[in-house]
Amino acid sequence: MLKYGNHGRLRLLRANTSVRHESTALHFYQNRQLELYASKEAKRLTLRQLVYFGRHMNEERLLTSANYVRTELPVRIAHRLRDLQALPYVVVTQEGVDKVYELYWSAFEKFRRYPPVTTLAENEKFCDFLRTLLDEHAPVIPNLSLGLSLSSPYLPPDKLDSFMRRMLISRISRRVLAEHHIALSETFSGRGKTTEGEPHVGIIFTGLNVKQSIEHCATLLNESPLWATESLGSGGYSKRANVLIDGHLDTNFAYIREHLEYIVFELLKNSMRTTYNKHAGESILPPIQVTIASGQHDVGIRISDQGGGLHDARNQVVDPSDLFSFSHVRNATRLEDERLGALRSASSSEHGLKATVDEQIGSWEKTLSKESWKIAEQNFQSRIGIGLPMSNIYATYFGGKLELVSLDGWGTDVHVRLPKLGTNLEGIEV
Ligand code: COI
Repeated sequence: MLKYGNHGRLRLLRANTSVRHESTALHFYQNRQLELYASKEAKRLTLRQLVYFGRHMNEERLLTSANYVRTELPVRIAHRLRDLQALPYVVVTQEGVDKVYELYWSAFEKFRRYPPVTTLAENEKFCDFLRTLLDEHAPVIPNLSLGLSLSSPYLPPDKLDSFMRRMLISRISRRVLAEHHIALSETFSGRGKTTEGEPHVGIIFTGLNVKQSIEHCATLLNESPLWATESLGSGGYSKRANVLIDGHLDTNFAYIREHLEYIVFELLKNSMRTTYNKHAGESILPPIQVTIASGQHDVGIRISDQGGGLHDARNQVVDPSDLFSFSHVRNATRLEDERLGALRSASSSEHGLKATVDEQIGSWEKTLSKESWKIAEQNFQSRIGIGLPMSNIYATYFGGKLELVSLDGWGTDVHVRLPKLGTNLEGIEV
């Protein structure tokens, strides 16, 4: 196990021998900086804090928000850099892992050196800086998935899964903080995108209507040829699985809409696919029943389908929790050639992921809205088998839960629970 040496080693692998001593000294200094940041605790927030702080915005508060992001993100990145450094060397040398390491290291250095934000004009520049980094980090997921899939033979499943969980929760948390600050700044400067009059603070929708989000995802899945062919097989979308919604239909709560819809989209897609496959020969597909429950502390969503239950590609019954695993020991698909190939092409270049997503979209929609690009990206994540683990991570980020129950031969029930009071802190792993 290498504890502190990997950064230097990764770089030195590429470095010319003549500059080796210089590099070692430089990296020794840089690792001291890393240690300094990594020794700080993350200042975790609740959803409620994010809303309250952003609600009555003025210049001073916006600058406080900017400087919180500026100083908090390098701490969170430093924790993950240390995590990467603690991996066995054989893992660090896998394709994709070094790319993630370099991206994180470079972002860490940029944040560390970024001067305090003291005026609105400086904040505009800071938002541009964040936007660029958010784009640059788009290939992190395929690279990480590729690298850790290739590392699966060298890591015990529990270790691999807890590592991936920390990497993904932390990534979500950093993107939430950066995107929330950008959205607050856009609203403050009057350049915020009009979100159809829906009440929101930054990226948090304060009256998010659960039924509307479910209907939105069902419509996207049923009406867009891209999802239809991906989900239902060619020609499949002529037959639709009706999504019936019951329960507390007027449930509203404060949540990040993108997170709720990622989860619902993924789960409905899986239900539609299994329903279609199981009932392919029948003229009418059985409905997918979605029940909404507004509890005292959380919002519950149950999705029940009649798709025959959970099976792997060889039609063997699977343990639902194995579907969340990144280890080939628990989930054999992790090392399948087709999946590794898709990951390689998405990871291969700066624009690999965008090209892969664009290719999927084809002629469906020439000018992509932010939303459709995000969904296309999610569709890609789903195709490479990380849509479900990602949904689990989104559900648990603020202390919620996602559980799958397979009724073999009949169908699958998924229970999602999302906290509705907004008082839970972000996951400990940030
Ligand atoms: C990530 O997407 O992994 C990030 O850390 C984004 C952040 C640098 C803005």
